[in-house]
Amino acid sequence: MMKVLFAASEIHPLIKTGGLADVAGALPVSLRQAGQDVRLIMPAYQGILEKLAPVQAKTNLGDPFGIGDIILLETLIPASDTPIWLVQCQSLFERSGSPYLDQYSKDYADNHIRFAVFSWVTALLASQGNLLGWQADILHLNDWQTGLAAAYLKSWKTEHIPIVSTVHNLRYNGSFPMSLYPDVRLSNELLDLHGLEFYGQFSTLKAALVYSDAITTVSPTYANEILTPEYGDGLDGTLRAHQDKLHGILNGVDYNEWSPEIDNNIAQKYDINNLDLKDENKKALLIENDLSPDLSKPIFGVVSRLTEQKGLDLVLEAMPSVLKSGARLILLGSGDPNLEQAFLQLEKDYPEQVGVRIGYDEAYSHKLQAGVDSLLIPSRFEPCGLTQLYALKYGTLPLVRKTGGLADTVFESGDAANGFVFERADTQSLTDTLHRAMDCFNHSQAWRQRQINGMKYDFSWQKTTATWLNLYQSLLD
Ligand code: ADP
Ligand code: GLC
Repeated sequence: MMKVLFAASEIHPLIKTGGLADVAGALPVSLRQAGQDVRLIMPAYQGILEKLAPVQAKTNLGDPFGIGDIILLETLIPASDTPIWLVQCQSLFERSGSPYLDQYSKDYADNHIRFAVFSWVTALLASQGNLLGWQADILHLNDWQTGLAAAYLKSWKTEHIPIVSTVHNLRYNGSFPMSLYPDVRLSNELLDLHGLEFYGQFSTLKAALVYSDAITTVSPTYANEILTPEYGDGLDGTLRAHQDKLHGILNGVDYNEWSPEIDNNIAQKYDINNLDLKDENKKALLIENDLSPDLSKPIFGVVSRLTEQKGLDLVLEAMPSVLKSGARLILLGSGDPNLEQAFLQLEKDYPEQVGVRIGYDEAYSHKLQAGVDSLLIPSRFEPCGLTQLYALKYGTLPLVRKTGGLADTVFESGDAANGFVFERADTQSLTDTLHRAMDCFNHSQAWRQRQINGMKYDFSWQKTTATWLNLYQSLLD
């Protein structure tokens, strides 16, 4: 049995802003089911403790950063009995709302300290098992919020513990002005070109890439893409230098959360043998959006963070062409205020065909997956993407740009066809693909076959458990 300390800054169902939370909520559970002793560590954001079992132990780690006492709490996630440590520090984590952004949607000015402290505690726990009576064999980091843990371990020169770092999104590289470096209490020795230095700043993600024993990312295609300047976000050189330890392992789906046959969020449960029942969800969603429950034309959907990455500006430009042919669009998203406004404007322009909800709503995201015909994901880059995997399970055909994990999971041609795919990130390519989807919708047999292909495919975490265990094991040999 391997002991793995899994560090993440968001974990579903405790707190979530995107796919990282889904992964951190499911992969450790699946590894535990495979007999491994995986435990979690996350910051104690406001309101988190109410979602957990009563705290079993408390350890005061003092005030080494001069920001108030840091306290480590130990408890369990009730649904899965997974042990979790929470890093409590009043001045850093007791804030309402997003884990990263203030009320104006700006990064907190002290994010470098907040996640340095989280990473510091993670490193302490990983290297000094005697502190809490549990010594990890492997430390598994996720994204920039945890990257400095690898730097602390490097600088402390404690006994080596193998580190795996998973990159969920290279665009968020945790880079901060050099003037803030003293705040994270690391030595200047780590600051050279082969260390934390990143175009005159310091990058916490680069620390993870450089000082880990293995780097994983969340799909095979993205693992190749990030070695190129086009997708490497300035870190492609570093990644090429560490290519021999880079692995692309596709994310999975937690089918206990995402299956139309057991989903309590949706109007009507259904499965592959009762696919006509999906219509009830389509009608319910249209009615909820004050649109006519007419199922003769397709309903396109979007569930997404509204950022440049997701390519939704292309949807704004391409959509009118298919709206004129009778399609509908239902969107749930939040993020960039310009995109939010533009989609609200589209709704005003096409009040009988477009329904837009700005915000974050977990239950409604399930209703939307069940209630649309096709989910649009025209991403400029997509490390893995989970919403297309959820769509497939709900008999909702993903319409995607061929990049990253989307390229690995959605196919337009061949026997395994399960959606629609385009290559170039431009309006014309998306418009053409929307029209192809409209045509296919009119050939109900072809559409149904794609739905069935998608629903049959198994993207469960259990499928990659062996790959993860082999990777961990290879670091211990
Ligand atoms: P990313 O992590 O880049 O945002 P993913 O596709 O991996 O993309 O994961 C997104 C996750 O966040 C999915 O679980 C999706 O359903 C969810 N999600 C995104 N936007 C919203 C929203 N506005 N409301 C509810 N859930 C959302
Ligand atoms: C990131 C990526 C997304 C991926 C998710 C989980 O947020 O943008 O593509 O699915 O992490 O790994």
